[in-house]
Amino acid sequence: MEDFIEQMRNDHKEFDHGSLEGFFGHAPFDLFNSWYSEAIRTAQLEPNAFVLATVDFRSQPSSRILYLKELLAEKFVFYTNYQSHKGKDLAANSNASMLFFWPGLQRQIRIDGNCSKVSEEVSDAYFSSRPRGSQIGAWASHQSEQLSDRADLEQRLEMYAEKFPTEVPRPPHWGGFELKPTLVEFWQGRPSRLHDRIVYELDENDWKIYRKNP
Ligand SMILES: Cc1cc2nc3c(=O)[nH]c(=O)nc-3n(C[C@H](O)[C@H](O)[C@H](O)COP(=O)(O)O)c2cc1C
Repeated sequence: MEDFIEQMRNDHKEFDHGSLEGFFGHAPFDLFNSWYSEAIRTAQLEPNAFVLATVDFRSQPSSRILYLKELLAEKFVFYTNYQSHKGKDLAANSNASMLFFWPGLQRQIRIDGNCSKVSEEVSDAYFSSRPRGSQIGAWASHQSEQLSDRADLEQRLEMYAEKFPTEVPRPPHWGGFELKPTLVEFWQGRPSRLHDRIVYELDENDWKIYRKNP
């Protein structure tokens, strides 16, 4: 273990894949789309996975990985159980932060903003596109609640599979959130830790663009 820590301490990685120079666009969405498509095109592992950080009613932060499913009308959409830990956090405090990290491109994007539920129609449309197993799973899993025995989950899975032999309706407690960004930071690794950081910050209705020290 100590050897491993020593090894991490001595691992002085160089960041030399690219730079952020020139014109970035008036809003962060073109640059986000461009980096996101590049992550997909260059086959980065789990390109649409991001960390979602939320804060609960006691101001305790927590984070977990989710999948980005859509960028709809300049809002970042993900799907989950509304009664989960994160769902309850967002009901009490709708501010959240998303973080994408594509190590192969030496890039991260931080997106701070405010979440609200997407419309029932948007959630229905996405739910109906999911594989049947995931649809039944959304009914069976009481996400984030204690589970004393995995057999209970499997029993509920069977129960719902019987209850919905053909079409599976969307559970009322399951759906999408959309995060409306107020700040988006693009980070590109550069040599000697002198990384590029370009921030878009919403000021009234305009995006202010500035650089930050690394
Ligand atoms: C790669 C990956 C993708 C995930 N995508 C989702 C997702 O889109 N929605 C979701 O509810 N949970 C997803 N999860 C599970 C979450 O990380 C988390 O365990 C779950 O949502 C419960 O979180 P909570 O108890 O903090 O609410 C994913 C996990 C991984 C590792």
